[in-house]
Amino acid sequence: MADQEIKTVGVIGAGQMGNGIAHVCALAGMDVILEDVSMERAKAALKLIETHMRRQAEKGKIAEHEVEAALKRITLADNLDDFDKVDLVIEAATEKEEIKREIFKELCPKLSEKALIATNTSSISITRLAAATDRPEKFIGLHFMNPVPLMQLVEVIRGIATSEETFKAIRKFTERLGKTTANAEDFPAFIVNRILLPMINEAVYTLYEGVGSVEAIDTAMRLGANHPMGPLQLADFIGLDTCLSIMQVLYEGLADSKYRPCPLLVKYVEAGWLGQKTQRGFYDYRGEAPVPTR
Ligand SMILES: NC(=O)c1ccc[n+]([C@@H]2O[C@H](COP(=O)([O-])OP(=O)(O)OC[C@H]3O[C@@H](n4cnc5c(N)ncnc54)[C@H](O)[C@@H]3O)[C@@H](O)[C@H]2O)c1
Repeated sequence: MADQEIKTVGVIGAGQMGNGIAHVCALAGMDVILEDVSMERAKAALKLIETHMRRQAEKGKIAEHEVEAALKRITLADNLDDFDKVDLVIEAATEKEEIKREIFKELCPKLSEKALIATNTSSISITRLAAATDRPEKFIGLHFMNPVPLMQLVEVIRGIATSEETFKAIRKFTERLGKTTANAEDFPAFIVNRILLPMINEAVYTLYEGVGSVEAIDTAMRLGANHPMGPLQLADFIGLDTCLSIMQVLYEGLADSKYRPCPLLVKYVEAGWLGQKTQRGFYDYRGEAPVPTR
């Protein structure tokens, strides 16, 4: 499929990643259908997109008239009925394999024959997800970074069956978004998260074992390793449920005990303290400034 044929993109899941993906596609001139389990969630995502775009315009990164035009290109949905119109689907739903499989099962019969499917999964096997569709050769991993409008990188991961045409069409699509790509092989968590998440998990062990407080650990890594954000602050930003899912995929996929998720990370997720998105994680975000929870 030639790149100019990607005119309409369907984004499944309107969470932090889905809204960012819809944002950059609409600004790049593509029509977008943004879908989630309820209209409420989709509407909340569109509000956020508008806020983020207006902020970009205030900073002079984009023109004011681009905001209006881009917002008009986004249609919201709470079902997949209109996905027969899309040239490319980007699946950005919750990081659970069963959820993604269910989505593909429902999605495939609705798609046109030529439509490509990309998944934004952080860690699940592209080859295995592709096998849950009717078009493994048109299926690819497209791993955007959070927040999508600001982060330059997209990892591109080919499954065993992904065709060269699909790979080329997706590379052109990412160029149109103004992103830089890094190609990763289809191994658990690919490149960025294979390296980043064990560091975050180790930071949680450091907290769990009482080596340092939340504040000490984050300050140490910010000022001692020159990281722009401490690892626990970053974990809250990513979402602790997502962090835990990625560690489980590494642990099971590579069968190495060095990847075992820290029990304290499990406890935070069990408590529903998932980080910024639920206003509480390693920090409490309900007040004026974030306060460490340990
Ligand atoms: N958070 C990050 O930093 C990050 C970075 C890169 C990739 N990812 C990946 O992006 C995906 C989404 O992560 P997120 O951080 O946006 O999660 P999130 O929890 O913010 O959003 C997930 C959204 O998916 C929706 N959803 C669940 N089941 C659905 C279904 N059947 N149909 C449609 N929508 C459904 C939920 O309602 C929710 O709005 C995951 O695969 C994650 O691994 C996350």
